[in-house]
Amino acid sequence: MKKRSDNAPPREVTSNQSAIHPNLETTVNKHLRHHFQKPYAQHNVNAFKTAGDWLASRSQTIILDSFCGNGESSRELARQFPKASIIGIDKSAARLQRHQSAQQGTLANYLLVRADVDDFWRLAADANWQLDKHFMLYPNPWPKSVQLQYRVHGSAVFPALLQLGGQITLRSNWKLYVEEFTAALKIVGHSADSSAYLPTETITAFERKYHLAGQALWECNCTLKRSI
Ligand SMILES: C[S@@+](CC[C@H](N)C(=O)[O-])C[C@H]1O[C@@H](n2cnc3c(N)ncnc32)[C@H](O)[C@@H]1O
Repeated sequence: MKKRSDNAPPREVTSNQSAIHPNLETTVNKHLRHHFQKPYAQHNVNAFKTAGDWLASRSQTIILDSFCGNGESSRELARQFPKASIIGIDKSAARLQRHQSAQQGTLANYLLVRADVDDFWRLAADANWQLDKHFMLYPNPWPKSVQLQYRVHGSAVFPALLQLGGQITLRSNWKLYVEEFTAALKIVGHSADSSAYLPTETITAFERKYHLAGQALWECNCTLKRSI
């Protein structure tokens, strides 16, 4: 199948799932009970060390921008929160490279790292990082019902996300993803809300693309208190 480029008109998310996944609660609870034992990839360990070294001499008000893509949102967050240290994480070198070529600037309070959140979040949780805010803007939806395990809340790394704490903002153009993520947070005892999100200013490439195409956007907000 021909690969769609980032410039192609965005498709609405279609799914064979029409309600919150029936296995959500079992899956979330299973992951809370069992330690995620996947070995760390060395490049993620190195990326975490780079982030830790960068943070060492900076504000410990930490904002993670996970799945940052080309890092546009990380830069915007750095502008909005000049006293915080913003770390944008994405596993795609190609996406991050676009930031370097198109958006160089003078803001010093953000860093982009190439890493998989499966490792980075666990390393940060083990190092007792406590976040001020955590943005997850348009994570891949994994819309097929059998793909629950690939969604943030259905994955074995969800407990590490909870441990990191902070004010969570997750956005998607798939309403059910946001509702399901919100439900997962409620299952573990957090108070979370989902609502429609209408941007006055778009801060990511995907947000802009969906918004300009007239797609509705959705957001979950939750302040995580350390619970596990
Ligand atoms: C739909 S794009 C959204 C990018 C950006 N937030 C935006 O809105 O333009 C999803 C991004 O998540 C990244 N990604 C997917 N799985 C990841 C993982 N496990 N760790 C880090 N990044 C991941 C992809 O490389 C991709 O850039």
